Amino acid sequence: MNKVKVTLWPDNREIWASRGETLSEALLLAGYALETPCAGRGICGKCKVQILTASAGIKAASDQLELYASEWQHLSLDEIQQGYRLACLMVLKEDVKVSISTEFRDVLRKTIEITVPGTETSFPFNPLVYKVFLELAQPTVADRMGDWERIERGLVEKGFFPVTNQVENGLQLDGDVLRMLPTVLRAQDYRITAVLYNGKLIAVEEGNTTDQMYGVALDIGTTTMVGALIDLRTGEQLGVASLTNPQRSFGADIISRISFGSQGSSQLQELQSQLVKAVNEILQELTGRLGVNQNHIYEAVVVGNTVIHHLFLGLDPTYLGQGPYVPVVTRPLRIKARKLKVKIRDSGYLYLLPNIAGFVGGDAVGVILSTRLHQSSEIQLAVDIGTNGEIVLGSAQKLLACSTAAGPAFEGERIKHGMRAAFGAIERVTIEEDVKIGVIGSVLPKGISGSGLIEAVAEMLRVGIIDVSGRIHSQQELPSELPLAIKTRVVEENHRREFVLVRKELTSNGKIISITQEDIRELQLAKGAIEAGIQVMMKELGVNKEQITQVFMAGAFGSCMNPVSAQVIGMIPSIPLDRVKTVGNAAGAGAQLALLSRSARKQATKIAKEVEYIELSARPDFQEAFLASMYFPKIT
Ligand code: FES
Repeated sequence: MNKVKVTLWPDNREIWASRGETLSEALLLAGYALETPCAGRGICGKCKVQILTASAGIKAASDQLELYASEWQHLSLDEIQQGYRLACLMVLKEDVKVSISTEFRDVLRKTIEITVPGTETSFPFNPLVYKVFLELAQPTVADRMGDWERIERGLVEKGFFPVTNQVENGLQLDGDVLRMLPTVLRAQDYRITAVLYNGKLIAVEEGNTTDQMYGVALDIGTTTMVGALIDLRTGEQLGVASLTNPQRSFGADIISRISFGSQGSSQLQELQSQLVKAVNEILQELTGRLGVNQNHIYEAVVVGNTVIHHLFLGLDPTYLGQGPYVPVVTRPLRIKARKLKVKIRDSGYLYLLPNIAGFVGGDAVGVILSTRLHQSSEIQLAVDIGTNGEIVLGSAQKLLACSTAAGPAFEGERIKHGMRAAFGAIERVTIEEDVKIGVIGSVLPKGISGSGLIEAVAEMLRVGIIDVSGRIHSQQELPSELPLAIKTRVVEENHRREFVLVRKELTSNGKIISITQEDIRELQLAKGAIEAGIQVMMKELGVNKEQITQVFMAGAFGSCMNPVSAQVIGMIPSIPLDRVKTVGNAAGAGAQLALLSRSARKQATKIAKEVEYIELSARPDFQEAFLASMYFPKIT
């Protein structure tokens, strides 16, 4: 068995860890934020824990344990005899019992949990970026220590143990920091702020800037890009900005972008620079609005599907478009911001969550992370509804994921009056005596959002304006009991039927807002792809809808999506509504969790390795299910 059991005494809480993991890693993954100032390198001695047994019974077990030299250095003979170890060095080989009754419990009490808006998921708050204010002794004849070594000494005196370069035994730093060092150090008489990233010095700033430390979570969707600016001192989300993905001009779907990007390096570069430019616009909008200096943003965590991930990095997408759809890389990547010309601190980092497979990327990992599907003991389903619908089904035992090309209808594209869920977008539709609408910002409407479209079509189906094939009835064919005010909204011009949602006098631009027959066909394609994907996944896992205890509906517009309407049009399984939850931008929430929590980041890597990918395009049962899912369910 590749798992070992870690029992936390006296609570008797049990954690399962992978054999070969260190105890500190296992605790971190289980949500405990053990203090590890030296980043688990056995230097600081702060991660001291008492092992009560390495086999059975509560007894000191020091005689069974191999000790490292640094443990002899940090632990007294008494402590060693009582079974104390450094958690970061202790490799788990067998079941262990760990005391959390004394100092360790104090450490646990100090942890802060963060919860990202839209999820109830909490993780220990421990970002990779931290700042230390240093008032360094000025050089004298007797103290001619170099500028760089002076900072290193100041950090160690403050109890920080920066990462050293193993070969040269020196503090690891960003090359550009050195060039600026003499000026920065002397500008405020050796009062500086050191910026550390995972123990590595990435910047030195004049004076005390510890109150300005930011990160960004970026969700780059096929159609919509969303960025959230986060205060890394508190985990608070300060603001959100979004843009339409400019690559849309190369094709609404990812297949057209793969084809364009595969044509040559200049085309690929074009796609990449479009994305970087848009990311920089989002950053500019956020920092301008919130009065934040872009140089005080030290990390951006990025999620997106695998194709977007490749295009953002300028990686050749050719083989993502050809079976067996192999990505260039699936593991998480950390890249200097200046390499991609992303305008955060140029020595800061971009961190890309890992990909699962050719069409399921870091965005799906983010969804799993923020909904905690990978830790659920029961079968749960998450559907991230966008131009590409990512579907994840399963539990902690087994998780399946797939991607299905829903098209951009949910994001308001290819819909006659479609628009993003922004000010002026219709997001609520009810049809009773007449049509009632809800508009974002409570202003005159100018279009309809994806969630508004789903509601409108669900209502049209419910009252009989359309039939199960999606066809809009003529006025004569409409159910006789429908009020005249509704009937007269069905209009026909050049054999094209549409249903007028808002008359021209009541819109912001003086033009009607309607749902056309073509819009309904687009929605059928989109919902059919999702519905069929879910059916294939259920078949593959061998479960039926009654066994699904929770459905998470995610998507940048997911928070305003009405689950009842999603069930009426057949997009998600018809299970009791108390088991359906809308979680908004869960992919973006996953990026925020990874930005703020090392344990969330580690879990993301584990998720990407363990989730099983299902390729739908190769399956005849998907094609069959898709054709059948184009129809709407019968209203009973
Ligand atoms: S974390 Fe520093 S010694 Fe373990």
